[in-house]
Amino acid sequence: MNNIAIVCSGGDVSGMNPALKHFVEYALDNGLNPYFIYDGYEGLIDASIIKVDYSYVSGIITRGGTIIGSSRSGRFMHKKYRKIAKNNLDLLNITMLVVLGGDGSFRGLDVFYKEHGIKFCAIPSTIDNDIYATDYCLGVDSALNIIKTSIDAIRDTASSFKHAFVIETMGRDCGYLALVSHLTSGSELCLIPEREYDLKDYEEKFKKQMLEGRRYFIAIVSEGIKQNTNEIAQWFEKKIGIQTRVSVLGHVQRGGNPSIYDRLMAYRFVTHAVDALIQGKEESVVCYVKSGFCLKSIEEVVGKKSLDEDLLRFLK
Ligand code: F6P
Repeated sequence: MNNIAIVCSGGDVSGMNPALKHFVEYALDNGLNPYFIYDGYEGLIDASIIKVDYSYVSGIITRGGTIIGSSRSGRFMHKKYRKIAKNNLDLLNITMLVVLGGDGSFRGLDVFYKEHGIKFCAIPSTIDNDIYATDYCLGVDSALNIIKTSIDAIRDTASSFKHAFVIETMGRDCGYLALVSHLTSGSELCLIPEREYDLKDYEEKFKKQMLEGRRYFIAIVSEGIKQNTNEIAQWFEKKIGIQTRVSVLGHVQRGGNPSIYDRLMAYRFVTHAVDALIQGKEESVVCYVKSGFCLKSIEEVVGKKSLDEDLLRFLK
């Protein structure tokens, strides 16, 4: 029987636990022995690897984060630690790996594959949705739902108190979370790294709205924009003349109960990844494009992703 392992690398997302659950079940159904690698590539180096069965994944589908932990491993960038990792896998006769992570994690594993021939299949998993060549990354929907709940709650206090709120979302240099949240929460302003902006362009309009009786503003800004979020808040206070509060949503966006969509996507991504390994496919990343799954090579997925033009055109 072949041995197959799964590892989470980089920022965790809500949806990893449903993926782990299906991985164990699907591997066993296909006559494979499933293994967990704990704490990302760090666990690969430290031999934190165990053989698992159904009992390890019972009851985890509702939980955010990942029960096997994750890390951003500095050591895995060095050849000598990758050699140790390879020896650890050999000792357990593990010949196939599934990795949940971002493109940086995939690149690390690709180097490992080229050096040591351990086949892997990657599942794009990041709330940033910034991986080139896939329309969807696991965890994005759960993060958007957390942001939606937060904005809805902030709106209640903003309207009661006649305040402006500047809400900062994560995403590194990708504005996807901010843009989708803006379009789906009806906020007044959205600033993302992909779009140049000049706050002066909004001054007249917002002041006029205040004179006409507007009680509050909601602004959604992505963490990657050129100004810091407090500067946007100062602009509201000084130029628009409204008391303003800042709310940095932070890591709350990465946690919480996985949404139905992410549970289903976890199931589908894992099925495609394990199938690809069983069939010995060369391409090693499962991508979701135009509502269907396909496999792509590492070279095809490393690149700067641009935001969907169809969404961007809604940003006035
Ligand atoms: O890549 C996921 C992400 O949550 C980004 O949106 C954010 O910039 C970063 O990770 C935060 O990293 P850390 O958890 O190391 O603070």
